[in-house]
Amino acid sequence: MIDNRPIGIFDSGIGGLTVAKAIHDLLPNEQLVYFGDTAHFPYGDKAPESIELYSEKISNFLLTQNCKAIVIACNTASSLGRKKVLEVLPTETPLIDVITPVANFFKSTKSEVAGVIATKGTIGSGVYRKSINKVNPKVEVQSLATPLLASMIEEGFFNNTISATVISEYLSHEILKDIDTLILGCTHYPIIETEILNYYKQSSKSITVLNSAKIVAEEVKRRLISKNLITDNKGANNHHFFVSDFTNSFEESTKIFFGDQLRLEKLNLWK
Ligand code: DGL
Repeated sequence: MIDNRPIGIFDSGIGGLTVAKAIHDLLPNEQLVYFGDTAHFPYGDKAPESIELYSEKISNFLLTQNCKAIVIACNTASSLGRKKVLEVLPTETPLIDVITPVANFFKSTKSEVAGVIATKGTIGSGVYRKSINKVNPKVEVQSLATPLLASMIEEGFFNNTISATVISEYLSHEILKDIDTLILGCTHYPIIETEILNYYKQSSKSITVLNSAKIVAEEVKRRLISKNLITDNKGANNHHFFVSDFTNSFEESTKIFFGDQLRLEKLNLWK
């Protein structure tokens, strides 16, 4: 059995591209349909009901694109919108969020104190602490909302003195002082992973930094295989990117991840 339908992926902006790229690298024959809800960026500061509404609307749109699985490539929407998405998804359509696979990683880890940095919405939901402690109650989870980071990244402010200052200000926070592992709890953060690693190198701390993109891509592969939904359509790669508001930074970032030949379309789902 092969299934040539695309995989649907969404985020508030460019963050989910880190997950889309990891899926593309692991499953190069799969076609992706990506929705970046740039008109509502940032999700991190929005009310839970708004995130539910956006997640539901976007998932319904991805289903109209004939998607065989949905990936919520956003921690905020995974925390606050997942239940709503499950309500609209046909039971046979796999739903992959970005939090559960990372929490499962803690089933077999030596980590004693994990830190999570994420948006206000994700941290406020307490989802990381709950999900990690469900699989491993021994891990202490320290959480810090880092609301400036996603906007900084979405605006293209990284690998410069501004980003270095903001990162250092957040990571030196008292609450993170005893951690042995840092979870990048927002899909925008892998874009500044090198800067985060540099911060720890300079402060001579040995911290494991967990970037969820690869872990989530592995989970997507596992779920597709278990439901016989994998394609062998070699060379398909006809990815389609939609945004609710056109931004230069989205186009630039998408080109960095997927090259120049882009199918990028503006689509207002809320008109
Ligand atoms: N990339 C998103 C996340 O993983 C959200 C950033 C935002 O829109 O605030 O939470």
